[in-house]
Amino acid sequence: MADKISAPKVRSMKGKRVVCITAYDTPFANLADEAGVDLILVGDSLGNVVLGYENTIPVTLEEMIHHTRAVRRGVRRALLVADLPFGTYQASVSQAVESSVALVKAGAEAIKLEGVYLEAIEAIIKAGIPVMGHLGFTPQSLNAFGGFRVQGKGDSGEIVLQDAKELDRVGVFSTVLELIPAKLAESITAQVSYPTIGIGAGAGCDGEIQVMHDVLGITGEPLKHAKAFTPGRQLLLKAMQEFAEEVRAGTFPGPENAF
Ligand code: KIV
Repeated sequence: MADKISAPKVRSMKGKRVVCITAYDTPFANLADEAGVDLILVGDSLGNVVLGYENTIPVTLEEMIHHTRAVRRGVRRALLVADLPFGTYQASVSQAVESSVALVKAGAEAIKLEGVYLEAIEAIIKAGIPVMGHLGFTPQSLNAFGGFRVQGKGDSGEIVLQDAKELDRVGVFSTVLELIPAKLAESITAQVSYPTIGIGAGAGCDGEIQVMHDVLGITGEPLKHAKAFTPGRQLLLKAMQEFAEEVRAGTFPGPENAF
């Protein structure tokens, strides 16, 4: 497909607006692809958004592979990135490469990992797999942060900036900046060569990523950094209730639904 988005293409979009969203299954991935989103992430938010876990920490590589395969079947144009889940890259460089290879074999065209695992990132890139970074609030380190907290406030912003530069040095094609002050995100964006993708990082990044279920209004109360673009939960609930009512009233299935 002429207009297929690749990792080098995303890298070349520095200064433009890169549209990114998560997806976890075929029909919703297909919806995002048809809408013209540039990058679809099989996020490990799979854990809390779809699998009913409290957070991303329990998500396994097998679960990520299963959902990456499903998303692959729904995507034609967008770049498909998959998250390395917690515990599948921190132990060693070879573990990181093997986990990344498994996700690529499942259909991912690039992987994302949280934090500054520079040697691992270099080895994954050497294996021919583009890498997306993730800095700021990295949900897999929830226990170390002591909760969902904005990172990089005050002097600690300098650490995030230096980490962003290190990721640039080792060759990531893009990096997610999550829950950091808008000013810091702007400053990082001005000092790195790759496009920064914000979530809870203000409007000064090169692009934005959101969790699909937040965008569609399917999750409960929207978080401060998110926006429901449709009251999805109410619409779906109403459809379910109408289905139940019609079945109970005997009006569905009607003659037009019978063979
Ligand atoms: O897992 C995820 O959904 C993410 C983002 C939203 C950046 O990592």
